[in-house]
Amino acid sequence: MKEQAKVSMQVDVTFSPHELQGRDPGGKSVVVIDTLRATSTMITAFENGCAAFIPVPTVEEARKIARENPEYLLAGERRAVPLEGFHLGNSPRDYCARNVKGKVVVMTTTNGTRTLAGAGGGEEVLIGAFLNLTAVAEHLGRKGRDVLIACAGEKGFFCLEDSVCAGALIAAIEGTGAYLSKTDGANAAKLLYEYYVDNIYGMLLGCDWGQYLEKIGLGRDIRICAQIDSSRLVPVCRKGKIVVER
Ligand code: MLT
Repeated sequence: MKEQAKVSMQVDVTFSPHELQGRDPGGKSVVVIDTLRATSTMITAFENGCAAFIPVPTVEEARKIARENPEYLLAGERRAVPLEGFHLGNSPRDYCARNVKGKVVVMTTTNGTRTLAGAGGGEEVLIGAFLNLTAVAEHLGRKGRDVLIACAGEKGFFCLEDSVCAGALIAAIEGTGAYLSKTDGANAAKLLYEYYVDNIYGMLLGCDWGQYLEKIGLGRDIRICAQIDSSRLVPVCRKGKIVVER
């Protein structure tokens, strides 16, 4: 029997929105990861029937869009704390069906929506987290394009949880049978993942942001964000709106 040719793709990882600015996403699939908590929260919301997210970098923009569209929910955080007058924060627990089914959510978060704002210019922008690793990997394997994984990081710097999640996604893409040529960033992310592979929850608890969330009483969110492959959804950002094809 003739052996099927392996899909060959290049995978790159950026560790902060600043680093992303220097990359050309042309022709690539871009995956934005803010695993604690923005992208995990979006996936949870879609699982509960949310119609769409409109991600915006600033609080002012979010308030303006919500004023012009009073049927939208206004959501987000700064320092993980919900904002004055907003309907929802950034905890996945806020996004139950009762709150978000059929709703469009305008969202601003410190790092996640800011990274999304700089992630355009490629063929597609996907939303990734530990929750939907295999679904995103299979999607990428089917498309066969080069991949740029954009970690949200923390305030412009490297953060451990997004980098380990990027490495987990790389391993999952390889698991689909694709042959990957990896940049230094991609190799580093995969090595980090291999170090933490047996204790992803422990890594999420121990990283800087995980410790902070725990300290301010949001530790339960970390458990939710650690549920590897709990979702098959692959949200995609098109013309400023994040949706899932149902
Ligand atoms: C962000 O976008 O910086 C985060 O998702 C922060 C958070 O945990 O709310």
